[in-house]
Amino acid sequence: MYTLRPVVLLLPLLAACGKDPVVLTGDAVGSCSYESPFSGEPECMEFFDAEIAAAQEVCDGYAAELMVDEPCAVEAVLGTCTYVSDGIQVRTTVEGDDPSKCGSQRFGCETFARGVWTPAANCDGGDEIVVLEDPFPLPERVCVDPLPGEPEGQSEDGQVCTWQVVSGATEEGRHFSDYADCDIIRRQRPYGAAPANARANEDDPRMDDAAYVAEVDWVRDQLRAGSCDCCHSSAAPNGPAIFDAEFEGNLLNQFNDRGLAMAAGWIPTIGFGTYPPEENNGFERSSPEDPYLSIIPTTDQARMMAIFEDELLYRGRTIEEFVDDVYGAGPLDEQLNYKPEQCSEEEGIDKDGVIRWAPGRARYIYVLEKGTQSPTVPPNLDTPEGTIWRVDLPRDGSPVFSESVVYGEVPEGMVQIYPETGAPAELVPGKEYYLYVTADILYPISRCVFVAGERERGGGCSSVESGPAGAVAGLVLGLALAARRRRLSV
Ligand code: HEC
Repeated sequence: MYTLRPVVLLLPLLAACGKDPVVLTGDAVGSCSYESPFSGEPECMEFFDAEIAAAQEVCDGYAAELMVDEPCAVEAVLGTCTYVSDGIQVRTTVEGDDPSKCGSQRFGCETFARGVWTPAANCDGGDEIVVLEDPFPLPERVCVDPLPGEPEGQSEDGQVCTWQVVSGATEEGRHFSDYADCDIIRRQRPYGAAPANARANEDDPRMDDAAYVAEVDWVRDQLRAGSCDCCHSSAAPNGPAIFDAEFEGNLLNQFNDRGLAMAAGWIPTIGFGTYPPEENNGFERSSPEDPYLSIIPTTDQARMMAIFEDELLYRGRTIEEFVDDVYGAGPLDEQLNYKPEQCSEEEGIDKDGVIRWAPGRARYIYVLEKGTQSPTVPPNLDTPEGTIWRVDLPRDGSPVFSESVVYGEVPEGMVQIYPETGAPAELVPGKEYYLYVTADILYPISRCVFVAGERERGGGCSSVESGPAGAVAGLVLGLALAARRRRLSV
């Protein structure tokens, strides 16, 4: 067997273009190889200066065996992601030779693991973050005639109007999938079938109680009016995720405890975004103004929360167990609460207003007051208070290169979203601002603080073309890393 010597590894980085190198200290205690359950890519993880038991626990989460004292043996490498999680130093080697995956791998590493991505030869220069095809579809208000046999709609000419976005809901009593395009919804949030909680297979005597069944049926109807219909019903192409609004038994038994807690409003789920009820056919859910509401958009929050609270109590769970769990939206919350650091050499706004960002091509550019909450999803979290300037690229536009945009001048092909009219406020020399540039919604390239009026032009990193990289793929990677972190913190 091969034994690793004690090592101090300094990860080499692309000159001046990366973050500070991560220093791995101590011994590599072993490794495990597995297929990422989320991205489907083979990966190998090595643990440094960690207890064997702790490393074993992480590997268990992937149903992988910890090979004590053995290093990763990966032939074709895209790159490595190095990060510290719960005090354990981890280096993940991502296997592969398809350079179109480099951008999303770097994104997942930097954005969710807060790690340092080191591209291997297969990704040399190809780790640019760009979304060339099928970017995040922005919400659209779709108005159509009601289905035959259904009552008249409440909008002009008897039409039914629905915001076509994950936080949207159609009129009460109708099915969202009849009034909006679920393919668009499934482009806005990762979808995959997932098994229900096993207790749903058992007989539930409460289902003999008509009053109880009526409440369960009401929950079904409310879910089906929301976008939830697209992934939590038979409208989901590969089957429902965890719970199924059309399940013949007790739908509530399909939920996991944490899912119940989100539906009971015990865990805030503001990160998913919401409309005010008056713009959403009367449906309301957890919002920054009122975080402890249900994740389920509903016309009657009190009724919804009471149903799920009863369910939690029935399972013997108490609200105290969830008080520290305040981030129900996982990776979305991580992005929302991201606190930027100082810009690197290659990022910021030059004296002459030229904006520069890390390797990647932009669809959204924001300049924000320092301390502003990071922008995430529409409709209510994408232009935070403190936004000074925001320009968007329309869906069919070609993403823009670093150094091609001057502050306050709307580039050809882009649209100024904020301010609604006129030029943005001038930047005050010497003052700090927050630059936020993304390849797509939830797909940041640069998020950092710079000092206005300080930088001369020159330097920077070269941008190189690479294949498309899906934001949803990145998000899935994020969910994978979040799940990994959850496992680590068990
Ligand atoms: C595009 C697909 C999609 C849409 C739309 C969607 N979900 Fe989900 N949802 C999922 C997937 C996939 C999971 C399981 C994996 C995960 O947690 O990400 C899930 C999990 C959940 C859970 C956790 C369930 C548990 O018990 O573990 C809750 C609660 C939930 N969704 C609520 C909602 C609500 C409410 C809506 C409608 C506003 C909704 N979802 C819309 C895909 C979707």
